[in-house]
Formats: sequence, C-alpha cells, structure tokens
Amino acid sequence: MQKKVNRIAVLTSGGDSPGMNAAVRAVVRTGLFYGLEVFGIMRGYQGLIEDDIFKMESRSVANIIQRGGTILKTARCKEFYTPEGRKKAYEVLKRRGIDGLVIIGGDGSFKGAMALSKEYDIPCIGLAGTIDKDIAGTDFTIGFDTAVNTAIEAIDKIRDTADAHDRLFIVEVMGRDAGYIALHSGIATGAENILIPERKTNINAIIDSLVEKERRRKLVNIIVVAEGDEIGGANEVARLVKERMPNIDARVCILGHIQRGGSPTGIDRLIASRMGYHAVECLIEGRHNVFVGIQNNRMNYIPLDSVGKKKGTISEEWMKIVKILAS
Ligand code: F6P
Repeated sequence: MQKKVNRIAVLTSGGDSPGMNAAVRAVVRTGLFYGLEVFGIMRGYQGLIEDDIFKMESRSVANIIQRGGTILKTARCKEFYTPEGRKKAYEVLKRRGIDGLVIIGGDGSFKGAMALSKEYDIPCIGLAGTIDKDIAGTDFTIGFDTAVNTAIEAIDKIRDTADAHDRLFIVEVMGRDAGYIALHSGIATGAENILIPERKTNINAIIDSLVEKERRRKLVNIIVVAEGDEIGGANEVARLVKERMPNIDARVCILGHIQRGGSPTGIDRLIASRMGYHAVECLIEGRHNVFVGIQNNRMNYIPLDSVGKKKGTISEEWMKIVKILAS
C-alpha cells in the first residue's frame, strides 16, 4: 500500500560535489509545490542524529543553483553505520514527524539509507551525488562533469608549461576506487597515458614507450593517474620512471580537492534539477527506497539495496581510443 508522505527532509552526505546545491533547491521547491513541508538536515547523517534540522522555504534555496559545495554542509558519519546511530536518527525523525528522506550522496550514503529504511520503514530516495561517477545504473552523477572540466582546465595549463620545457608531467586526479575522472579528462586533454584502478598498470611498458619517445625526441608527455591506481598515485609513478630514466625532466602535479569545488557546469545543474524533482515525485507516488539515476537520458530508479560501485565497467573501446589517439 502506498505510504503517504507529508513532511520530507533532505541531506547531503559523503564528499561534496558541485551541483549538490542545485539538487537541494530542486527537492525543496518541488516538495513545496506539492504542498509538503520540507526540512533541511545539516552535516548529513551526523546532523540527523544530533537533530540539527531546520524548516526550509522557497527563499532558503534562492541564489544557490550556481554555487559549489553544499549549503547543508556534509560529513562522513561513522555512527550512522551502527544500529545505535540509526536508532537515534529514527527517533529524531519520529519526534519531528518527518516521513520521507532524500539523501544526496554516493554509494556509502545509500547503504546507510537502505539500512534505515529496512529497520524503521522510513521511505528513502537517493540522488547520485559524487564527483567519482562510481555508481552503477546511472550515466551521470551530480558533480562528475564539473570535476572533469576542472581537471581538463588544469591539465591544459600543465601542457602549456610542459611544452615550453619539453617535460614529462604526471598529473594525479581524484578517484579512490574509480578512474572515470582520469579517463574522461585524460582523453579530453590528449594525455599520452591514463592509469586507472579498473585496469592493471604495466609500468614497465609505459617506461619502455617513454624511452622510445625520448629516442625520437618526443619529450612532452602527460600521464594522468587516478589516485586509486594500483601503482599508488603520481609520486610513485614518478619514482619508478626516474629509477629507469634518471635524466628525464619530469614533474608531478596533484590536482586534489580543487576538483570538488567550483560552480557546477550546465550539465550538473540540469541533472541535479531533474533528479531532485523526480526524487520528490518518487516519495509522493510511493516508489520508495530507490536512487534516482539517468540512463540514456531517461530517469532510472535503482533499488537502494542493489547499489554497487561501478568498478570494472570501463569500455574496451574507450581504452582503444586512448591508445590510438596518443600514439
Ligand atoms: O568524493 C569522492 C572523493 O573526492 C574521492 O575521489 C577522493 O578519494 C575522496 O573523496 C577524498 O575524500 P576526502 O575529502 O575525505 O579527503
């Protein structure tokens, strides 16, 4: 039977990603449009446990669609992953009469939501918000496009100076478990090599090809490394290269958290707005405990209990493109 919702709350959880604010705005304004009361929860599950909750109006989300970060702040809350933590969270929700929850975050945040909804029958809807794009069932996650564009802008600049000095640059991008930022930004900047956690890295073959390129005076090379690559990041790659090529002029650049900030791109604003709107529709229509993704430009509703990291699904064709275009 359809469970009616009257009071919903929204939170952002895990690593922030550009576009989270656009998603919060969409949830709040859609909820109000349908006559629901909408609450904002500060600092993710931590704020839920601590009852750090406030009522949101249309004005609460004015002028935020273009802002990075999250006005609700975010946290990685260990306590919520314990039954005791979730009991505290449920008691807060019950006391406040909140009967539906929208969680904007990654796979870890969705697992927490699933546990809460199973134990206490609180309808939960997830919105895929992570720069890593490491969730199966969606072509986009909120923040990924912005992070890729930030990395592209940085790598383009790095190529200018690499070219001026005839240098090898090893650029590390984010992605603890997933290589999508590395792959997309690497292809878009013409990187000579892209190292990602989903693939075995043959460092000897890469060094062999650098030696061969040195012989034919191709000295400007960019290697993009995802932080979670099996070699252990850009510094380790540089160490291994220098071990065999002590005279090579090489530099390391770790892009780090700049990839998480900044004004969201048009794509991120758009998918965040669509996902936020559909999250509220899901709550109203009784399509509960799913996360909202977009596949082939259509909304895709994936049960929260089937959420998994999207590891190992890198297309062979893309890897072939990397190889051919960088030769
Ligand atoms: O949100 C994903 C992510 O940016 C990963 O790419 C990265 O490994 C991690 O978060 C960094 O987390 P923190 O901000 O806690 O250092």
